[in-house]
Amino acid sequence: MEKVKKIIGILGSPRRGGNTEILLDAVLEAAQNKGADVKKFILNELEFVPCQECENIRRDGICIVEDDWQKIFAEVENADTVVLASPIFFGSVSAQMKMFIDRFQCLWLAKYVFKTCKPQKKKIGAFICVEASERKDFFENAKSIVKNLFATIGAEYKFELFCPGIDAKAAINKKPGCLKKAAEIGDMLTK
Ligand SMILES: Cc1cc2nc3c(=O)[nH]c(=O)nc-3n(C[C@H](O)[C@H](O)[C@H](O)COP(=O)(O)O)c2cc1C
Repeated sequence: MEKVKKIIGILGSPRRGGNTEILLDAVLEAAQNKGADVKKFILNELEFVPCQECENIRRDGICIVEDDWQKIFAEVENADTVVLASPIFFGSVSAQMKMFIDRFQCLWLAKYVFKTCKPQKKKIGAFICVEASERKDFFENAKSIVKNLFATIGAEYKFELFCPGIDAKAAINKKPGCLKKAAEIGDMLTK
């Protein structure tokens, strides 16, 4: 019997029921319908601080700051797939998403500088992103940040969905093509 896939979705938008969450839900729902074990984290509703650039850091890649970020870190380590979803804010991922990503600096140092990182579970990474404009460079900018995180956590950057021209809350519901692609990604994540 095939093992149940553990998929975690991380929402970077502060707008509940907004475009990013609708797309993320479409991905997660499709995966769940195919038997995946799915969890969603709403960064804006968690209490965590940005990276503090601590000097007395651990060498095993684990951040020493104790807050809600630690809850997701544990889930990220055990996941088969990590789905990051963020709107474009000022040409990049949202502040919530960037704060979440920066906290992996300890892991980045352990992996690439100290070479003290323990073996990582192989993972798949997917990135969902929306923006009001039609700026490809904004998506590329956000993608480079997300790719950097995925490399750090040992995830292969495998699926992406970029939806331009989406601004008003839930406007994505008028773009069936985007919703369909989100569901397709969710489906493929279970294969
Ligand atoms: C603070 C802020 C900054 C934004 N910056 C950009 C931007 O640089 N480029 C862009 O195309 N859209 C920008 N937008 C628009 C959002 O990306 C867009 O409304 C998106 O659909 C919001 O997704 P959500 O409903 O999931 O929050 C910005 C919106 C906000 C609130």
